[in-house]
Amino acid sequence: MNGSARESTSVAIVGAGPAGLTLGHILAQAGVPFRIIERTTREHLLGRVRAGVLEQGTVDLLASLGLDADLRRRGLTHHGIYLQYEGRRHHVDFDELVGRTVTVYGQQALVAHLLAEHDRIGSDVRFETTGMQVDGLTTSSPTVHYVDASGPVELSCDVVVGADGYHGIGRQSLPAASRVAWERAYPYAWLGILADVEPSTDDLIYALHRDGFAMHSMRSREVSRLYLQVAPDESIDDWSDGRIWEALQTRLGVDGWTLAEGAVTEKSITPMRSFVASCLSHGRLFLAGDAGHIVPPTGAKGLNSAVADVALLGRALLDHRAGDDTGLATYSERALARQWKVQQFSQWMTQMLHVHDDGDASERGFAYRSQVGQLEYVTRSRAAQQSLAEQYAGLPFSEGAA
Ligand code: FAD
Ligand code: DHB
Repeated sequence: MNGSARESTSVAIVGAGPAGLTLGHILAQAGVPFRIIERTTREHLLGRVRAGVLEQGTVDLLASLGLDADLRRRGLTHHGIYLQYEGRRHHVDFDELVGRTVTVYGQQALVAHLLAEHDRIGSDVRFETTGMQVDGLTTSSPTVHYVDASGPVELSCDVVVGADGYHGIGRQSLPAASRVAWERAYPYAWLGILADVEPSTDDLIYALHRDGFAMHSMRSREVSRLYLQVAPDESIDDWSDGRIWEALQTRLGVDGWTLAEGAVTEKSITPMRSFVASCLSHGRLFLAGDAGHIVPPTGAKGLNSAVADVALLGRALLDHRAGDDTGLATYSERALARQWKVQQFSQWMTQMLHVHDDGDASERGFAYRSQVGQLEYVTRSRAAQQSLAEQYAGLPFSEGAA
């Protein structure tokens, strides 16, 4: 690009979501130069609510990087979840079943903390960039082109990491043959709210109801996070706070328990999809997080998968600096091996807990009764609960290693 400022770094990270920010800290700790290049504003990044449950592996990785101070203070350790159907609620105790727990800590808080720590250590993070393009990926010195407030920049580097989410340019930069992907859309979406009210439950509640799925999560002892299954084309404008609470009361209600209501401070509808790229690397480009795979949110795997990827990729990049490229060469295969297990779990939870509206009344009834049968089995079989607990609390990050 004519008139571009020519700059260089070692690792160019596209995207400042959980994947990009965490990878930045892994590299910072090892003294590897990097630049994080983000399209949106810092304010937009800090305003996104999104996910809420951290697997133990995610917490352990953050702790190993010294990034767990805020989550130790504000995160809530959860020993299990409740599965609810037909007006009955059953606890699945992860701690007792597999000796592991999860931590409820919002993605918003995590991103804020990771960014604040990047500010503190003086990391190179650029916001509000446009025109992102990459080239020279099969050379030993690829180039990232973008425009920021100072004008066009030509950033040469050793490695490019596409941590730029589902709509980013990372995946689009793969050659056509490597861009093959497997994808599934779902005929429903999640309406999520944040409400200023003390959670009415200790552990998260996942509920199958004839009207649709509902979930009770939380962000703190003062803030609740709740979700409802809605149609994918539903407009948030048609969901007044009153209508949302009424649906939550109906779907989450069990005898002898009360759902406390409070002021709704945020509400939005998120479509659901499953997506897995066939390949997460091309030459010196490596994809991590949502850039390479998306899961439906039931099971809380999106954010954790992004962190699992950069745990593998970070290690491989450090080995690459030390002259060993085995980790980079096998990164895509290892990350995808773990990801397909996560995909299967997320689909299983989604299918078991959402109401399926397709087919005639008999087919819909058949699907619903089968789901109740499945839930009856899971809540009565220790083996089934152990399997759920093992996957919900998180497969090892090294899963899929050769
Ligand atoms: P992202 O968080 O998407 O970060 C990618 C970053 O790259 C973004 O900041 C984006 O602005 C930037 N970017 C994109 N293109 C470019 C470009 N060309 N140049 C520079 N920067 C670029 N998961 C759950 O487990 N539970 C949930 O409840 C849940 N809710 C969600 C709600 C929504 C609306 C969405 C979209 C996702 C949700 N997820 C949820 C998924 C979870 O939030 C993601 O899996 C997680 O954010 C993945 O992190 P990431 O860093 O890979 O990608
Ligand atoms: C939350 C989101 C999830 O997708 C999930 O399975 C559990 C909790 C949350 O936002 O709190």
